[in-house]
Amino acid sequence: SATCNGAADAPSGLASPAPRQPFVIGVCGGTASGKTTVCDMIIQQLHDHRVVLVNQDSFYRGLTEEESEHVEEYNFDHPDAFDTDQLLECMGKLKSGQSVNIPIYDFKNHRRCSESFRKVNVSDVIILEGILVFHDQRVRDLMDMKIFVDTDADIRLARRIRRDTVERGRDVLSVLEQYADVIIPRGGDNHVAIDLIAQHIRTKLGQHDLCKLYPNVCVVQTTFQI
Ligand code: ADP
Ligand code: C5P
Repeated sequence: SATCNGAADAPSGLASPAPRQPFVIGVCGGTASGKTTVCDMIIQQLHDHRVVLVNQDSFYRGLTEEESEHVEEYNFDHPDAFDTDQLLECMGKLKSGQSVNIPIYDFKNHRRCSESFRKVNVSDVIILEGILVFHDQRVRDLMDMKIFVDTDADIRLARRIRRDTVERGRDVLSVLEQYADVIIPRGGDNHVAIDLIAQHIRTKLGQHDLCKLYPNVCVVQTTFQI
């Protein structure tokens, strides 16, 4: 993996007290739940402290040429989509009082900007936000406090469609294709949704069995998306 360019600050004078390790806050939550917005608001409130924000998104791996050719099949919501070793290296340096250069990710082209970095300075508080920042034990172990931002999935989908079409160069269809087929509000309490889904699965299984018996007929069925 690419290395994180440490940009160590000059050591302070002998008389100054040993620097305290920064306080690390992890902010996790679904896509478009408002993680970045919440972090920005916390940073505004803590204006009398040095607070920096690190986005897990910055550590998305750039796609290989082959992956780029089949981008619609690529899973950007899987832990392997991130270079977590590089994230850990950067966080380790920040925690030990060194400033770092963090990659800049280009969502439109699914790759890193090879030329430019964002310099993140030494701070009192480091906020690390991202959809999967609680996934890896080593990343969790860095955190002094964990926050989960919870927003209804239908609101998140509406926000994501607007953001990704306006800022990330997507069209509505591609956003929907990346998203879940069905959202169930209120989980197990929503008996109507669960009944409808079970019925739908039964119908699909029936089609599946028919396909095995009459493959030629089913070619026609899938074309019509029954
Ligand atoms: P995340 O970091 O979780 O992906 P963001 O904070 O970037 O979420 O928010 C996603 C989108 O939703 C952004 O376009 C943002 O402006 C918008 N947004 C965030 N919070 C709200 C809110 N409370 N009301 C309306 N829009 C919001
Ligand atoms: O900002 P947010 O937390 O929503 O960013 C994470 C989302 O970005 C993921 O759900 C992922 O599917 C999406 N993503 C994308 N294209 C990329 C990289 C991430 O749509 N190239």
